[in-house]
Amino acid sequence: KALVIAIDGPSGTGKSSVSKAVASRLGVSFLDTGAMYRALAWSCVDAQIDLGDADAVAEHCRTFDLRMGMNPKSPTVAVGERPIDAEIRQDAVTSVVSQVATNLDVRANLKQRQRDLIAQGAEATGGCVAEGRDITTVVAPDAPVRILMTASEEARMARRSKQLKVAVASTRSQIVDRDRADSTVSQFTTAADGVVTIDTSHIDFRQSVAAVLRVVQE
Ligand code: CDP
Repeated sequence: KALVIAIDGPSGTGKSSVSKAVASRLGVSFLDTGAMYRALAWSCVDAQIDLGDADAVAEHCRTFDLRMGMNPKSPTVAVGERPIDAEIRQDAVTSVVSQVATNLDVRANLKQRQRDLIAQGAEATGGCVAEGRDITTVVAPDAPVRILMTASEEARMARRSKQLKVAVASTRSQIVDRDRADSTVSQFTTAADGVVTIDTSHIDFRQSVAAVLRVVQE
C-alpha cells in the first residue's frame, strides 16, 4: 500500500520545510497544497479576474492549467509553461490567497486535483507527503499517517519573521489575520480523530523532522 503522509497545520509551524525534508528522506513525492491556492490567486490576478466575483474565480479555477512538480528536492509550480515559484510567495499573493481559499467551489476543484496528484506521486515513488490545512480531514482522511503540526503563536511569529527577515511585530498581522481569514476552512485547536499532534514550539527543524519520522515508523 502507498505511503501517504498527510500533514496539516497553520503557518509558521515549519510544516512546509519539515514535510519536504521528510519526503526527501523517505524518497517519496511531495505536494504543497498551499502553493496550489497561491497559484490560483496569482493566476486570477494575472488574468485580471475580480477576486470578489466568486463565480468568476470558481470558473477560472476549473479551467486553469496548474502543473505541480512533486520532487521534494526541487518542487515546482507552473501555470501552463510559465513557472511561478517566486511569484506565489509575494505579498500581493499572500494577502489575497484566503479570498480564493474560502470559495467552496474552488476547494472542491482543488481537492480533486490534490487527490489525483497524491495518487500520481504515490504511483511514481511509492508514497507522497502532502501538506496543507485540510489534508488529514478532507483531502486524504484515509492516509495511513496523519499529523497535525502546531506551535504557539509566539514561536510561529518568530519563525515567520526570521524567514521574511522582518520585525516580529510586522508578521503578527500576516499570521494572526490570515489564521482568522482561514478559520472557516480549518480549525487547529484539536486534532481530528486518529491524527497525531506534534507541537514544534520548543523543538528545532531537525527534531521536528525526527518526530515526524518516528510517527511514520510506528
Ligand atoms: O506557508 P503558509 O502557511 O504561509 O501558507 P500556505 O501553506 O502556502 O497556504 C496559503 C493559503 O492557502 C492559506 O492561508 C490558506 O488560505 C490556503 N490553504 C487552504 O485553504 N487549504 C490548504 N490545504 C492549503 C492552503
